[in-house]
Parts: sequence; structure tokens; C-alpha cells
Amino acid sequence: MPLENMTTMLAKARAAGYAVGAFNILDYNSTKAVIEAAENVRSPVIIQTSAKTVVFWGCPAIIGWVRELARSSKVPIALHLDHCRDLGLIAECIEAGWTSVMIDASSKTFEENLALSRQVVEMARPKDVTVEAELGAIVGVEDDIHVREQDAHLAEPEQAIRFCKEVQPDCFAPAIGTAHGVYKGEPRIAYNRLEDIARRTTIPIALHGGTGLADDVFKKCIALGCAKVNISTQLKYAFIDGFVAYHNSHNAEYNPLKVIEAQFNALKADIIEKIGLFRCAGKA
Ligand code: 13P
Repeated sequence: MPLENMTTMLAKARAAGYAVGAFNILDYNSTKAVIEAAENVRSPVIIQTSAKTVVFWGCPAIIGWVRELARSSKVPIALHLDHCRDLGLIAECIEAGWTSVMIDASSKTFEENLALSRQVVEMARPKDVTVEAELGAIVGVEDDIHVREQDAHLAEPEQAIRFCKEVQPDCFAPAIGTAHGVYKGEPRIAYNRLEDIARRTTIPIALHGGTGLADDVFKKCIALGCAKVNISTQLKYAFIDGFVAYHNSHNAEYNPLKVIEAQFNALKADIIEKIGLFRCAGKA
């Protein structure tokens, strides 16, 4: 199937109380693992690329893998650019065929964030590309964006509602206490804020910082309105550990395709487990 944007898949998820997984890919093998996992459990899925990964491989390579793999697939697939501060790169991805982009102007003042996010909506909408925008600052490291604990702040509900009304993003990412990377200690999720925001907007909400959250945290956030859940760090671990574990147990065997297959299987197993947890299996 051709790639699609996030509109239909997220609207359905938000209305029915499940979430679509957005999985950060690293290369062709991980892209294939995401698509095969989604196929196996008949789930819509979001292939997510960090800005750094896009710069590393270049847009033509990535769009080539994704389109080729999606062509023979029967599940809805979106290709989404994760946290991006660079309007030039956003324009490049839109031009190359990404169906969705995220503007991360969360380090700017509220008014600047509004203006930049609106600008991206104006760039994307005529091309039928969906836009995710963030408010507040999510702690941790995602790509080249480092948010220190002392600089992190939660989205404030009044501002969040004004932001949603004025920007009209297709997906809204409020900082609610989750973190990018590996959690140090128990995350304190601001469920009240999430509930308050979700009650006052129908825009699907994105849950960032999925790696390491407990199953009941996912369930509660999804029940409150999160329709997109981002998983990145867990896949970086599976990518490397899947590779290393195979080599350690077959250290005399120098057969790269076997190692790549082991890595693929490790990634696919993690993705299938998360899709099930988000109650998205069977929703394609
Ligand atoms: P994790 O790296 O914690 O899984 O977070 C992913 C994310 O939110 C990407 O935007």
C-alpha cells in the first residue's frame, strides 16, 4: 500500500482507546522489522526517523526502503520525522515523501513555539503531510536534543489548549513527566494534566519516552487519550544486543546474514510485544 499520513490511524485510535506505536528505525533491517511486525499482527504502524538518522543516511535511501517495504504490505504505514528543530530538514523530508513531521520548538518561548509550529503546519498541510508539535520540555536525550532535569517542564493545560487551538497540529505532544532514554527511578506521570488536556481537545496525543514505562502506565495514558506511543531507546538496545548475543553464542561463525537475522528477530519480537500492549493488534 502507499504510505499514508497519521490522520486516519490516530483518529481511529483516539476514538477507540488504543494507541499506534511509533518505532524509531535505524537502517533497512530495523525498518523491515517494524513493517513485518505490524503485518504479522495486522496493525497500523508509524515508522519514525530521528533527524540524525535522516542526516546519516539521506532522505532518498530511507524513502526508498520504506516505500519498497510498504508496497507489498497490507497495513497502514506512516513515515514520520521525529523531533526536528530544523525547518530546512523538515522541508526536505516533506519534499522527499515523508507523510508526517514533528516540529520541536519546545526550547523556545511559548509565543515562538506557537509561531514556528504554525509555520510548519502551513508548510505541511498543502502536501497532505501531518504535523506533531510539542509543548513543555521532555527531559532526557533524544537525538541531538538534550534536556537537563532542571530545564524540563510539564505542559501547562491552559497553554496546551491555546496551543492546540492556534496551531491545530494533527498530533500534540505535551510534556507530562515521561523521559527520553532510560529512566533513573520511577517516573512521576502528571495524569491529572494529561486528563485535563485530553478532555478539552480531540487532537490525538503523543506519549513520548516509551522505553522503560511500566505496562500499567501505558494503559492508563492510552485510556486517557494518548493515541501514539513513541519507542526508540528500547529498539537501540535490541539492535545492538540482538547482534552481540548472536555473535557471542556463535563466535567462530562469521556469517553476517545470520547476525542480521538475529538482530531482526530481536527487534521484531520487541515491536510485536509493544503493539499488543498498546491494543493495536488487529486494528489494520
Ligand atoms: P524513548 O527513547 O524513551 O523510547 O523515547 C522515544 C521518543 O519519545 C522519541 O521521540
